[in-house]
Parts: sequence; C-alpha cells; structure tokens
Amino acid sequence: MSYFNFLKERYPVFFTELNGCGVFCWNGYRKIMLKDLSTAKHCLLVSFIAYHFCRYLVQFNCLREDRIKPCLIAALLHDIGKIDPGVLSIVNNGRRFTDAEKEKVQEHVLIGYRILLRYGFDSDIANIVLYHHESWDGSGYPKGLVGFEIPDLARVLRICDSFGAIVDPTRKSYNGERVVEQAVQDIKSKAGIWYDFELSCHFCDFMSKFSPHFKEFFNCIYDQEYTTR
Ligand SMILES: [Fe+2]
Ligand SMILES: [Fe+2]
Repeated sequence: MSYFNFLKERYPVFFTELNGCGVFCWNGYRKIMLKDLSTAKHCLLVSFIAYHFCRYLVQFNCLREDRIKPCLIAALLHDIGKIDPGVLSIVNNGRRFTDAEKEKVQEHVLIGYRILLRYGFDSDIANIVLYHHESWDGSGYPKGLVGFEIPDLARVLRICDSFGAIVDPTRKSYNGERVVEQAVQDIKSKAGIWYDFELSCHFCDFMSKFSPHFKEFFNCIYDQEYTTR
C-alpha cells in the first residue's frame, strides 16, 4: 500500500479537509507525487503540520477560521515549483549546490506562484507560496520582505516548512527520537530572526502538545514499509 493510501485510511478527518480543497489542489499534488516523491512527502507533512497549527491559532484567537483552508492548500502545494525540470534536476543531483544552482532552486517560489495562478487559485493563496521563504529580518527571498510586510500565512508556512525540512530524513541525517525536539529548538533559536517571534512561541507551545500526533504521521510517511511507492 502506498504511504498516501495508508495515511488516507488512518487520518480520515484530515483527508476530508484536504478533499474539500478541490480538484485543482489534488491535480497539483498528484503532479508533485509523479515527479518527485520526496517533495510530495514533504508537502503532505507540511500541510498536516500547518493545518493543525492553524487550528491551534484559531483556538487562541490568533487566526480567523476562514484562513485555515487557504493555508492548507498553500501548504500542500508550496513546493510545486520544484517539479520544474530545471529545478528538479538540481534538487536531485545529490551534491552541494553551486551559487548558480542555489539561485535556480530559489526560483521554485516564483514558478509555484505562476502554476497556482494558472490553476485558477486566487492571489491570496499564490502569494503564500511566493513568500514562503521570506524571513522576518529581511534575509529571505524572493523579495527580502521584512516583518509584517510578509503575508500572515506565509509567516505561518515559513515555520511549518522549516520544521518539516529539519525532520525530513531524506534531506538531513536522521537523529532518532530527538529529531522533533531538536527541530523545536531550531525554530526557537531563530524566532524573531527568520521567523515571526510571536508565531514561533505559539508554534513551540503547539508542538509540545502536538508532537505525539506529529510523530505518528511522520512515521507513516517515512516508514520503509510504506515508502516503496
Ligand atoms: Fe520551498
Ligand atoms: Fe518546503
């Protein structure tokens, strides 16, 4: 059974929410799955984190409920720009990027933004994808936006995306049980630098309660038994 079908059966509520995101969202995700399984798994993991983090923020009146769905769609498709052949060949070449390659890979945000607009998503969602690598201190890309210039859900996604990337065993050396705790520490250490300070505090609080669910979902995605297809 593929990781996807397995998760669908195991997390019916989350997948019902994803289903509600519409056919264009699924078509986009299917494209990622076909082109690059590693990116597809990362996107699904990030959408799982982002969905639950948004719900947590809503609970504490830090986010409006109608912002959950746009964030879920943007999270599931945030790295769709990486399926661009020019970007994909660099991502998969397995060695350290040259400066020119790094620049090319960074284009995935703009490519993703254009794909989403072409699919008919509104600019609110496309902008979350465009700005998901912007940093609070202005050191991110593509525009070097600072603080609240960065759209709210792009700031949310920035944290969830980093967290998903830090724990991804296909990208980083997996460090067993401590990986989640280390990722939380990493987010904390960059709060107010790369990440919105207040959102980072909420995220660490959220993850202290959510980590058992996260670990279970994470294990299902990356467990060898379910990663063969
Ligand atoms: Fe990205
Ligand atoms: Fe990502």
